[in-house]
This record gives sequence, C-alpha cells and structure tokens, in this order.
Amino acid sequence: MIGEDEIQEVVDSLRSGWITTGPKVKRFEAQFAEYVGVRHAIAVSSCTAALHVALTALGVGPGDEVIVPTLTFCATANVVLHLGATPVIVDVDQSMQISVAEIERHITPRTRAIVPVHYAGQACDLAELLALAERHNLPLVEDAAHAAGSDYRGVRIGSHGRAVAFSFYATKNLTTGEGGMITTNDDDLAGRMRLLTLHGMSRDAWKRYTETGSWHYEVVEAGYKNNMTDIQASLGIHQLRRLDGFITERQRIAAEYLAAFSEFSEILLPPRLPGRNHVYHLFPIRLSPGRLSIGRDEFIRQLQERRIGTSVHFIPLHRHPVFQRACGATAEQYPVAEALYENLLSLPLYPRMSPADVADVIGAVTDVIEHYRV
Ligand SMILES: Cc1ncc(COP(=O)(O)O)c(C=O)c1O
Repeated sequence: MIGEDEIQEVVDSLRSGWITTGPKVKRFEAQFAEYVGVRHAIAVSSCTAALHVALTALGVGPGDEVIVPTLTFCATANVVLHLGATPVIVDVDQSMQISVAEIERHITPRTRAIVPVHYAGQACDLAELLALAERHNLPLVEDAAHAAGSDYRGVRIGSHGRAVAFSFYATKNLTTGEGGMITTNDDDLAGRMRLLTLHGMSRDAWKRYTETGSWHYEVVEAGYKNNMTDIQASLGIHQLRRLDGFITERQRIAAEYLAAFSEFSEILLPPRLPGRNHVYHLFPIRLSPGRLSIGRDEFIRQLQERRIGTSVHFIPLHRHPVFQRACGATAEQYPVAEALYENLLSLPLYPRMSPADVADVIGAVTDVIEHYRV
C-alpha cells in the first residue's frame, strides 16, 4: 500500500539527483537492521539476488548441494542452479514448512547450505533448524521473502541464520516495487556480500560520487549488479515505518477469515504454529479430501465466477521440468507436498482490502462450499 509519504520521498529523490544507490539506501539499511535487531542489512535488487549473493559469499559452487523445500517459489532453487550447484529438494511436513527430518535424511558430504522458507509469513522451526545446522556445521540461509516483520519466539526474523534474504516485491508485506535485503550478524560475510552486490568493487564504491569520495576503486572479485536504488529505498523507508500497521491489518483480515470458516469441515485453514507471529503474507487454505464434489481447480473456477481471484502458492518445485532434470525429482518422493498441493489455494489478503472486499471473499467461499458439499 503506497502512501503520500512514499510518493513525496520518491519525488525528493528525483529532485535531489540521487536516483541510484545513495544516502537513502544507507538510511533504509540502517533502519531495517535496527528493526530486525541485526548487525548488517544490505539492500539489493530482489530476494532472488539476496539468495544468490548469500550463497555465492558462502562459497557454494559446482558439485555442491543446497537443501531447499519443495513448497516454494522457483527462485529459491534457481539461484542454486545459477551457481552450478544442485538443489536437493525435500518434502514439507503437515505444518507446510520444510521437514527437519527430511533435511537430515538428505544431508551428504556435498551439502553446503540449508535454505528453509518461512512459508506464508510464519517462521519455520528455527530452534530445530539451527540445532541441525550446528550439528552438521552447515550454514542456514533463510528465505524470508514472506516474512518481513515476522518473528520466532519473540525475536524478529533476520538474525537467526547465517544470512537471511527478504523480498520487497510489489505484493510483499513491505514493498519497494522490486527489491530485497540480506541480513547477517557475521561481519566477514557481510563485507563479502556487500562487495558482491556491486561488481566486486572495493568497499563503499557508491561513495566515489560523494564530496568525501575518491575516484579510485579496486575490483577484488567478479561481483554482480544487484544494488538497490535510492528511488526504491524512498519507498522502503516509509514502508518500514508502516510495516507493523500493515501486519496488524493482515492479521485482522486473517482473523475474519478464520472466524468465518472455522465451522466448515470442507476446508482446512492455515496451520498456526506456537511461538510465532504469523504475518499472513499469504492465506493458504486446503480443500478437505472427499468433502466436496469438486476439486481444487474447479473450486478456483467457481470463485472466479463469483469475481474472487485466487492463486496457488506454490506449484511444488519437483513438478517443474527444470528441477526434475536437475535432480531427478519425482512426485513419489514428496507425498506430503503432493497431497497438500492437490487441494491448495490462497485467498486474497492485502491491507487495502475494504470490509466489503473481505465480506465478498467470505460470501463467495461459503457459497461454493454450500453448493458443492457432499
Ligand atoms: C519464497 C520466495 N522466495 C523468493 C522469492 C523471490 O523474491 P523476489 O521477487 O524479490 O526476487 C519469492 C517471490 O515471490 C518467494 O515467494
């Protein structure tokens, strides 16, 4: 939800002449680090870039394996392929989060990192994941694309793993249009990641354009072009200030859905896990098998006929040809995700929804259930 403050801040950037990485990116990074409670925040062009940079900085390369869940967006695993490594795709459990037992089963001498995804805006079991990562001496790189402002046992997401990647894509809880952030408490890793986001140029390369800057720089490794612009950070600074309010709104709408649908045995509502603040980036529901005379695809079509647009988060990775080719994934290896996916859809949920919008969704879902219950 873009407000007047964001618009004015963008105009200010345009008038100031700083339209690429500059002082506002620095300000946004500092404010995000403070919000999360972490030593370093590095603003980047997307969460995909954040994951790519983090895994590169950790030394992932050809011949390595990186463990990812199957119930995620393709970006989580694409970056592993970009590095010449193999994504090892594992099943989720009934909580819809990556299965810690499945991770353990898939660790080999070639495993170089574990990338859990805080699906829908609710944290994975970080205590178990951190213990597992420590036992095997593996870095945890959290895909927190859905989880800005979320927490685990009272600590905000962003400071648990070795590196944490956030998305500020248009639909996310905090948006800069396109954008992302990497957070870490590891000083050396932060330095390496910062270099990699801007061509591998020596520290604070952007300063060469400031009064105190110098023309001289060195390229110390072949980095990427993943920096965030001040125009994006203009949005981010104000979005961050409003993030907790957005989350409260999302939770209020989620509470309305939960209350309205709690009596229906025909649908399963998003699982709530203890010790976590669910920020409801998504509201994924599942049809209870055998309770309706229609399947998920027809359920989506019926909602569409009632002018309610839904989506499916996600088509599991193992169903995509690229990952089937890369690691020989087959449906039989993912019984939990397969059963979830068959019945999965996400209801609309965003802070700008009016009470009438929410009532329309509840009305349409109720109508379809009443029409097709067996
Ligand atoms: C789980 C997950 N990881 C990564 C990404 C990629 O984020 P971005 O579009 O900022 O690169 C997304 C995007 O939706 C996502 O859902």
